[in-house]
Amino acid sequence: MIPRTSVHGEWSTRLAFILAATGSAVGLGNIWRFPYMAGENGGGAFVIVYLLCVLLIGLPIMMSEVLTGRRGRRNPMDSLKAVAEDEGRSTIWQYAGAMGIITGVLILSFYSVVAGWALAYVPNAARGLFAGMTEIQSEMMFDRLTANPWVLLGWHTLFMAMTVAVTIRGVRHGLEKAVRILMPALFVLLLVMVGYAMQIGDFEQAVEFLFRPDFAALGTNGVLAAMGQAFFTLSLGMGAIMIYGSYLPSKASIPGSAVAIALTDTLVAVLAGLAIFPIVFGSLLEPSAGPGLVFMTLPLAFGQMPYGSFFATVFFVLLVFGAWTSAISLMEPIVTWLVERVNLSRVSASLLAGGGIWLLGIGSVLSFNLWSEATLFDRTFFGMLDDLTANIMLPLGGLLIALFAGWVVSRQVSAEELEGAPAWVYPAWRFVIRYITPVAVLAIFLNAIGVFQN
Ligand code: PFF
Repeated sequence: MIPRTSVHGEWSTRLAFILAATGSAVGLGNIWRFPYMAGENGGGAFVIVYLLCVLLIGLPIMMSEVLTGRRGRRNPMDSLKAVAEDEGRSTIWQYAGAMGIITGVLILSFYSVVAGWALAYVPNAARGLFAGMTEIQSEMMFDRLTANPWVLLGWHTLFMAMTVAVTIRGVRHGLEKAVRILMPALFVLLLVMVGYAMQIGDFEQAVEFLFRPDFAALGTNGVLAAMGQAFFTLSLGMGAIMIYGSYLPSKASIPGSAVAIALTDTLVAVLAGLAIFPIVFGSLLEPSAGPGLVFMTLPLAFGQMPYGSFFATVFFVLLVFGAWTSAISLMEPIVTWLVERVNLSRVSASLLAGGGIWLLGIGSVLSFNLWSEATLFDRTFFGMLDDLTANIMLPLGGLLIALFAGWVVSRQVSAEELEGAPAWVYPAWRFVIRYITPVAVLAIFLNAIGVFQN
C-alpha cells in the first residue's frame, strides 16, 4: 500500500506536533474546568480517579487516535473509514468519527463563551480593577460580566473570530511558534501563582483537599465527571488529536509524543489546582462555587500581589492563548470534513463552521442571564452541553476509538505505527487498549446509571 498523504500538509517536525497537540490539550480544561470540577466533587478522590483515567484510558486512547489519524490522513470520519477499508472491515466505524466532529462543534460553542470571560478579564486586569478587592467585589465582578448577555456575546464573537482567523490560514501556520513561546510562559506564571498562593493562602488545606481522597464525597457521578474531565482536558474522543495525528510525519514516534503531551497537560492542571485552592481556603469562597471559581479566586490573589495588575494581565492573556490553541483544534475536524467531503475551500469551511458554532454559542451566553432559570435536569443549556459532551459523548467516542484501534486495526498496522518505543510498550498498549480501557469506560458508564447499586 502506498502511504497516504494529507491534502492539508504535514507538521515540519515531531516537536511541532507535540507543541500543537499540547496546545490543544492545555487550555480552559486545565485552568478553568479542572479546579471547578474537583471543587464540586469533593477534591482528593476526584483527583485520583482523574489521574487513573489519564493513565489507563487517556494515554492509550491518545496513541490510538494519533495512529489512526496518521494512517488515514484525512478528517476523523474519513480516516476511520479509510483504515477500516484497509483492514477489510465495515465502514460503519466512520460514524464514530462523525460523532466526534459533532462533539467538537458542541464543545466549541460553550468553550468560546468561557474563553470570552478570559478575554473580558484582560482589560479588567490591565485597568488595575483587581487591586485590593474583597471576595464580595470579586464575585460581583464575575456576576456583573455574566449577567449582561450583550457583553458576553461581544467577547464570544471576538473569540470565535480569532479562532476562525487561524483555521482559515491552516493550523500549521503560526501555531507552532505561538505555542513554543506561550506554553512555557503560561507554565512559569502558574508556578509564580502557586508560590504566591502558598504565601497568602491556606496551602496546607489546599493540598489536603486536592490529594487526600475521601471517596464518600465522590459518589457515582463524581467518578463519571472525573473520567469526563480526563477526556476533555486531553482533547480525546472527538478527533482533535486524531486530526493532528493526520499531519504527523511518518517516521515520528507516537508513544513518546503521547506521554509528553499527557504529562504536560496533567502538570498544568495540578499547578492550577495548587494556585487556586489555597486562595479558596484562605478566603470566604467555596470550593464548589462552580464555573466562576477561577475567575473569582485568582483576581483576589492578584489584587494583593506586588505588580499584581501586570501579572494578572499577563496571566489572562496567556489563558486566552491556551483557550485559543484548544479552540483551533476543536474547529479542525469539522473544517477538514467540510473541505474533504463537501469540497468547500478552507476559507468557506472555516467561515461556515465558525458561524454555526457562534450561533449555537448564543444558547450558552443566555444560560448565564436570560435563560438562567430555564433548566432541564437541574442544568442550564450551558450545563447540559458541558455535561453531555464531556461525560457522555467524549467517553463514548473514546470507547469506540479504543475498540477500533484494539480490535479492528490489525496487529501489523498498529505495531508499525507505534514503533520507536521500548519493546515492552507495544504489547502493553495493545493489552490495555483491548481489555482495560474499554472495560473501564463501560464500567464507569454503567456505574453512573446505577447498574452496580445492589
Ligand atoms: N483540551 C482542551 C482544554 O483542556 O481546554 C479542550 C478541548 C480541546 C476539549 C479539544 C476537547 C477537544 F477535542
